[in-house]
Amino acid sequence: MLSTKMVNAINEQINAEMYSAYFYLAMNSFFESKSLAGFSHWMRMQAQEEMLHAMKLYDYVNERGGQVVLEAIAKPPAQWNSPMEVLNDVLAHEQKVTGLINNLMNIALDERDHASGGFLQWFVSEQVEEEANVGAVVDKLKLIGTDTSGLFVLDQELGKRLPPTMAP
Ligand code: FEO
Repeated sequence: MLSTKMVNAINEQINAEMYSAYFYLAMNSFFESKSLAGFSHWMRMQAQEEMLHAMKLYDYVNERGGQVVLEAIAKPPAQWNSPMEVLNDVLAHEQKVTGLINNLMNIALDERDHASGGFLQWFVSEQVEEEANVGAVVDKLKLIGTDTSGLFVLDQELGKRLPPTMAP
């Protein structure tokens, strides 16, 4: 059985993951409107991955006898000035999520909830990967600078991103 504090904290994280999905879906829509199909696809895969994160937490709360309480999801932004601005926002957002996951882990440790600590370790590792993946795209955009042909090559590369799967 999860403590009330732990359930509330995981419920907040479910909302944060769903907001992340919403945030990336807004970026998907933005890139779609700019005809950058690869960037758009990459954001859609990112949004799908966030829903999987949310549902992994959701299922865990149910499995441990808690109740998921869904809250309103905040409105994401809709406009950016450049692909670089979008990807910088993604990186900053993932860094923020890493902080949230670390706080969640701290609560599990404070509560002496080893099952939750073990469960959350997956998210700790996932955030390392998420930041690295986004950081790699930001680095490529920096190299590209104002070279439009480079942007189209990157767009094609991002279009090859595979749909997310949930590792155990
Ligand atoms: Fe669910 Fe991108 O962190």
